[in-house]
Amino acid sequence: MRIDTAVFAASVPQTVVTITLMIDDFSGRIAVVTGGASGIGKAIAAASKAAGMTVVIADVEQAALDATCEELRVDGVQTDVTDPLSVASLADHIRGRFGNCDVLFNNAGVAPNGLIVQQTLRDWNWVIDVNLRGVVHVIHEFLPMMLENERSTHIVNTASIAGLTSVISAPYTATKYAVVGISEAMREELSQTTVGVSVLCPGLVRTNLAKSERNRPASLENPERRKRAAKWSLPTTVPPVVLDPSVVAEMTLAAIRNGDFWILTDPSLLALAWPRYEELRAIAFPGESS
Ligand SMILES: NC(=O)c1ccc[n+]([C@@H]2O[C@H](COP(=O)([O-])OP(=O)(O)OC[C@H]3O[C@@H](n4cnc5c(N)ncnc54)[C@H](O)[C@@H]3O)[C@@H](O)[C@H]2O)c1
Repeated sequence: MRIDTAVFAASVPQTVVTITLMIDDFSGRIAVVTGGASGIGKAIAAASKAAGMTVVIADVEQAALDATCEELRVDGVQTDVTDPLSVASLADHIRGRFGNCDVLFNNAGVAPNGLIVQQTLRDWNWVIDVNLRGVVHVIHEFLPMMLENERSTHIVNTASIAGLTSVISAPYTATKYAVVGISEAMREELSQTTVGVSVLCPGLVRTNLAKSERNRPASLENPERRKRAAKWSLPTTVPPVVLDPSVVAEMTLAAIRNGDFWILTDPSLLALAWPRYEELRAIAFPGESS
């Protein structure tokens, strides 16, 4: 069947891209950072504090949480985002202590490695629990509260460039695609409210993500390692730039100020996503050159 380009284009719903209210002054605002005891979250916590916000870090790793809170002189609440009750108790703490949350960084995440054939169900469940269910639990608890905030507020969901193209392990990619999808749905549904939304899609950043196993719960440990030498690599045509987390943090705060939805720390990596759209375009419009 040949598709009429004009009819097809007219049938595509127009995306609402306007965020009605933007936060341009962070001073005195309340920021909550999940996964804030390390890496990108820690840098976001530091940048948020430097911008004048009162910061609360929520992280599962107690020792790192304590050390980071002491270093940055911010509050911390031990939180496991995989546990809805733990996230509810974090939200209760924020409501009781500060009344509401102004900027929510929904950032905690883990990354396993290995090929799809090597993943056990425990591997899948662990990554889905933290990277997908964890993000959902946080939105579920904080969004209703933030919608009641009389001031404009903002939620940043941390996905990855792996949310736009599959460059890393399948379970990780699956969760990050989901976070991008959730964020796009939130942008649409919240466009007429005072809650702004962004999705952070970093490329490579110098963090402790490669040591994620440190936070795997005992119940999801593999009884015997199924993994052989885990291998994945970015295509060599794209030179990987490894950013410092502080750079990502500054980009993130700038995006909130600008009301930007997409936060791409390394837009050149989008080249990895093109082949899919070219393939789909060729199916939709056969015979048209791109
Ligand atoms: N580092 C990168 O190259 C990169 C690239 C793209 C996306 N990301 C994403 O950035 C986010 C932050 O990761 P990072 O790179 O800073 O890694 P990191 O390991 O340095 O920090 C992740 C933090 O999440 C916390 N965490 C893990 N499980 C948790 C749980 N169940 N509940 C609460 N906290 C939990 C960890 O304790 C840690 O403090 C993740 O969502 C990750 O997927 C990272």
